[in-house]
Amino acid sequence: MTPRPPRIGWAELPRETRAAVEACAGSVTEVDRVEMGERSDIASVLDTEAGKVFAKGVPAADRQAAWLENEARINPYVAGLAPPLRWRVEAGGWLVLGFEYIEGRHVVYSPGSGDMAKLAAVLKALQEIPCPDVVYRRAEWRWKDFTDRAETMAGEAMIHADLNPGNVLITEDRAYLVDWAGTCRGAGWVELAMLIPRLIGHGHGPAEAEEWAAQFTPWRDAAAEDVDLFVAAESIRWDKVAADWPYPRILLAANTSRQWKEWRRGR
Ligand SMILES: Nc1ncnc2c1ncn2[C@@H]1O[C@H](COP(=O)(O)OP(=O)(O)OP(=O)(O)O)[C@@H](O)[C@H]1O
Ligand SMILES: [Mg+2]
Repeated sequence: MTPRPPRIGWAELPRETRAAVEACAGSVTEVDRVEMGERSDIASVLDTEAGKVFAKGVPAADRQAAWLENEARINPYVAGLAPPLRWRVEAGGWLVLGFEYIEGRHVVYSPGSGDMAKLAAVLKALQEIPCPDVVYRRAEWRWKDFTDRAETMAGEAMIHADLNPGNVLITEDRAYLVDWAGTCRGAGWVELAMLIPRLIGHGHGPAEAEEWAAQFTPWRDAAAEDVDLFVAAESIRWDKVAADWPYPRILLAANTSRQWKEWRRGR
């Protein structure tokens, strides 16, 4: 994990890139820069003649471009769960994706939050979609350096794999999942296992977080020893990341993963 250079603004994109975006989106009249998230070098809400659009982009030669391509390829298969991709522009050395703008706020993961039911509805819908062939990343890759049984996390479900609160937008009546760049194929319970430390980090007790996960079939069907193996590997993974990058959100993830592991050991 290498820190990205600071985000640039719309006006700093090459003229050719801006012209190509405007050919798809219409003339840009106002720009609101988005600070949340760090993978894209530009992320902005563009106000255009045709309405608002969320645009994110990276230099086309950057290795992050492959992640953005991943997100673009997956979008048609997750219609209804993700904001639809309106256009994809490659021009002036940049790759930029334009999504339907969602007027929403980030999810609140605290116990008792009304957002949890909206999140559950969107996750259940995701669990019903067969994993399309375009999803080539494999969940087990993520843990291969932290356990010699990473294949435990393998499976055929489609997993978003990054449900940090910045990637779940809440509107009046529902939740949308954004940022499908890291979507992978794996065991269905892995999505919930990756989410549980986040819930713990926002005030859920480990038992309460697991109880919430138990409303989903893949969690109820998961073997306890597979989850134990995951929890051990995930805790080692976060400790390693935290040793290299001791940022607050990473330290929190390392702590909550450890807390969950210790709770499961003590059951
Ligand atoms: N369609 C959308 N409408 C409105 N806001 C959006 C939309 N998509 C994303 N956002 C906002 O922009 C932020 C950044 O978007 P996203 O997470 O897709 O980009 P990223 O910076 O590339 O990813 P990462 O979070 O992995 O660094 C999100 O946290 C969310 O607040
Ligand atoms: Mg994000």
